[in-house]
Parts: sequence; C-alpha cells; structure tokens
Amino acid sequence: MAGNTFGRLFRVTTWGESHGPALGAVIDGCPPRLSLSVADIEAELARRRPGVQAHATSRREPDKVEILSGVFDGQTTGTPISLIIYNRDVKSQDYDELRDVFRPGHGDFTYQAKYGIRDHRGGGRASARETAARVAAGAVAQKILDREGVQVLAYTIELGGVAARKIDASSIWDNPFACPDPEAVAAMEARVQEVRGLHDSLGGVVQVRVRGCPPGLGEPVFDKLDAALAGAVMSVGAVKGVEIGAGFAAARRLGSENNDPLIPGGFASNHAGGILAGISSGAEIILNAAVKPIPSIGREQQTIDLEGRPRTLAVKGRHDISAIPRIVPVIMAMVRLTLADFLLRQRAIA
Ligand SMILES: Cc1cc2nc3c(=O)[nH]c(=O)nc-3n(C[C@H](O)[C@H](O)[C@H](O)COP(=O)(O)O)c2cc1C
Repeated sequence: MAGNTFGRLFRVTTWGESHGPALGAVIDGCPPRLSLSVADIEAELARRRPGVQAHATSRREPDKVEILSGVFDGQTTGTPISLIIYNRDVKSQDYDELRDVFRPGHGDFTYQAKYGIRDHRGGGRASARETAARVAAGAVAQKILDREGVQVLAYTIELGGVAARKIDASSIWDNPFACPDPEAVAAMEARVQEVRGLHDSLGGVVQVRVRGCPPGLGEPVFDKLDAALAGAVMSVGAVKGVEIGAGFAAARRLGSENNDPLIPGGFASNHAGGILAGISSGAEIILNAAVKPIPSIGREQQTIDLEGRPRTLAVKGRHDISAIPRIVPVIMAMVRLTLADFLLRQRAIA
C-alpha cells in the first residue's frame, strides 16, 4: 500500500505536490443526501492560509476548490467526490538552491533515500500544501458528524512555550495564532517577534475537543479509536507526539487519581479523554498534539549535498515561523475524517 489513502468506509485519497499544477482529494464512501457546497469547503480552507510569517513575500494561495463529481443539486449523491485545488501562487525558483542539498529536519533526505528522486520544489509531497486536500475532505466528513451532532473544536494551547490559560471558544479565530485565550496572544506575538529576529522557528501544542461523540465508536483491538486518532494526527507533518486525555501525566499518577469515577449520567472526571478500551465513552474526547518547529529556517545549519559532501544551508524563500496556526485546521480535519469513518463503521454493526 502506497499510503495515500485514509479510512475504511469513508475513504479519502489525497494527491498532488506543492509545486505541481493542482492537488486534491477523492472521497469514496460518502453517504448520499448530505448538503455540500464549495463555500462549506472554502470556509475551512481559509483557516489554513499562511499565518505566522517569516517573510513578507509568503505564499498567498487563494485556495479555491472545485467539486468535480459526487454532488448534484447541492447534495452528495453517494458516488465518489473529487475535489481539486489549483496551485496558483507557485514560485519554484525560490527552491533552486535545494535541488542538491538536504534541509535539516525536513523530508528531503528521506524522500531521496526512499525513491532516489524527489521534487525539491516546496517540499513536494512532504509539503504542508498537501494538507489543503485533507482540510477539504475534512469539511465533507464534518457533514456526517453534523448529522450526528458531533462538534470538533481545535486551537493552540501553547506556542513557543507560551501557554493559553483559558479556553474561550469564541475568540479562537480572532487572532493570528488560533489561541483561545485573548490574554496569551500578546506574549505569543512577542515570542514570535523575538524568534523572527533570530531567523529561527517555533513549535507548540494543539488541543482538540470533540463534543457530542456517541459512546461505542472504535473497534477492538487494532482499530481502537485512540490508536486511530493518534495515527491520523501523527500523519500530519511536524506532529511529534499525541496525548489522549491525561496522556503522559497519567504515567505519574496513582490509579485512584487517574480513574474517572462513574456516576449516573457519565463520569465525575475525564482523565481518559473520552476513550476507554479504544471505544468512545460519550465523554468529551480530548487530544493534544505536539508540533515541532518549522524545519526550514533562515539560520545557517550544517548539512550535506546529494554526493554526501558537507555544506552549510540558510534556507531562503517563503516559510512560516511556526506550523501553528495553519496546522490547527489540518489536525481538526484528521480528527473529523477518523470520526466520520468510525461512525459509519459503527452504523454497519449496530
Ligand atoms: C500546516 C503546516 C505548515 C508547515 N509549514 C512548513 C514550512 O513553511 N516550512 C517547512 O519547512 N516545513 C513546514 N511544515 C513542516 C513540514 O511539512 C514537516 O516538518 C516535514 O514534512 C517533515 O516531516 P516531520 O516533521 O513530520 O518529520 C509545515 C507543516 C504543516 C502541517
């Protein structure tokens, strides 16, 4: 399996490279009679526009989507949905210097090792540009979730070591960091400015909360819901860790501290993050994703060229300081795709 397809019943294949003419997704297995418009998809795509920029000339994609199939009279028909997004703002010459040198921290070295050839322009298929297709497909998945009353919220809880201390869902998209705490925004901005001056980059933590997820989603034993969510979110470039509920903190607690007591109508706490034995419990699903700093940095670093000779590299061209906030809708999309697939799988047996 070449690894470009996600899901069992709600199946999404993404295709395309950063600097090719277009990219897109083909969705097979979407139920019929869901309302779906270009506007639904473009609203989500707008959230992954270039954000915390290092250079004034950062790539500006209009991110217009065309629905080529599977929708008639504003409704899904049950046939494959094909989505295409054209790459319009392509400046491939910015990447000429990367043709025969490997960027530390990026996929250049491993793509070359695996395939013996690579499209060096913009990171090719390892580029975040591919994630536009996931976000588009995620907007379709949300239509299935809407029908079941499932809401997915995602936001930045940490950027460059600055943490959000409260979660005001209404303020997430009011600031350049998708931060739910208006009081943390200024400190995040200051940290970004500081690092911009160093020609360096920043990581952070994205949190996802799923409300209204019915109990029973997740399949024993290899397709547990937590395993599937972790795999889905880790499939996003730059994600280096996934926690469900208390995550790593659970390793330092007593059982009596970590268990969530059952009470009539639910649980007294939610350290499990809404999943027990790989099956959703009906409690809120809580997931944290650790996002590493952007690998392409203007600061000089040691590397090698195609012949293995030592080189130094200070990456030019258009790169953000952090994958945050653009990664927030991407992680949200992967959670949506996972839940839509598991909802359909549960429907098949219950
Ligand atoms: C939304 C998003 C935006 C990103 N933007 C950039 C970028 O501008 N420059 C860059 O070098 N890497 C960027 N990345 C990270 C690389 O895609 C990623 O680090 C690379 O593919 C290597 O994969 P790994 O970090 O998972 O090992 C971005 C990732 C995401 C998800």
